[in-house]
Amino acid sequence: MNISFIGGGIMAEAMIKGILQSQILTAGNISIGEISSQRREYLEQTYKVKTYSDNLKAINNSDIIILSVKPQNVLEVSEKLSNNIPKSVTIISIVAGLSLKDLTEAFNLKSIIRVMPNTPAQIGSGMTVWLPTDNVSKKINDFTKAVLESLGKEIQVKDENYLNIATALSASGPAYVFLFISSLIDAGVYLGIPRDLSRQLVLQTVLGSCQMLIDSNDHPSALVDRVTSPGGTTIEALLTFEQGAGRATIMETVIAAYEKSIELGQQN
Ligand SMILES: NC(=O)c1ccc[n+]([C@@H]2O[C@H](COP(=O)([O-])OP(=O)(O)OC[C@H]3O[C@@H](n4cnc5c(N)ncnc54)[C@H](OP(=O)(O)O)[C@@H]3O)[C@@H](O)[C@H]2O)c1
Repeated sequence: MNISFIGGGIMAEAMIKGILQSQILTAGNISIGEISSQRREYLEQTYKVKTYSDNLKAINNSDIIILSVKPQNVLEVSEKLSNNIPKSVTIISIVAGLSLKDLTEAFNLKSIIRVMPNTPAQIGSGMTVWLPTDNVSKKINDFTKAVLESLGKEIQVKDENYLNIATALSASGPAYVFLFISSLIDAGVYLGIPRDLSRQLVLQTVLGSCQMLIDSNDHPSALVDRVTSPGGTTIEALLTFEQGAGRATIMETVIAAYEKSIELGQQN
């Protein structure tokens, strides 16, 4: 199987790393079309893959093309490639907001897979949600599942709107988590402990709390209850959080990202 990436940025690199580390393919099976010469040089040196400034050369002999440019660059890519891709090729798109229908029309192909990964894929701890069209063969579907497993966890869904929701929840999600962590660390510093100590306390607290949820079937609120003793410090903190509409703000944050994902899709 030969695959090519159009756009050799952060997410493409995470996928290349996963594919090579899991030995799903060798570097000789991977080519990349990338406009930045600096990026091409880096990817060639680091992963020994072939890179091209001309996307047409990159897709030559590919069974699968992975579309990994930013949403605003899709049109320029599809205009150049769409008449030059054999009908047997499958497109895997990780582009936020771009629907299966848009992709089918833009590339004039029927075998399309829409994938929404996230940046922890860079360390094999990603969460990827994906959806193929009915025309994707079992062989390509199984291959895609193996590639996505090499990035962390993957879930194939049936409803395309779940992809837009996953864009807002799991794909943008690391940003919310990093912000939350950063705020906790700052709070520790504000109260007087050194930043590196605050960082250690917060990271282990977040990691341990996630692990507790993963290991149990309890609702998160049940675990909140268990740390909240009557008249104690945690309930005092929770009151402040609720007064600041903390939970509503987090929900609104995700909803804003979802709406943006729909808007981006409509612009293409
Ligand atoms: N990052 C995330 O957390 C995340 C999560 C899920 C999905 N995604 C999706 O993944 C896609 C890629 O995101 P990313 O974060 O990997 O972006 P990125 O790091 O900016 O990578 C895109 C790469 O494509 C290059 N490029 C631009 N136009 C091109 C063209 N016409 N032909 C070939 N290469 C071109 C860019 O070069 P220049 O920088 O020189 O323009 C850049 O190196 C996006 O559509 C995004 O929606 C991202």
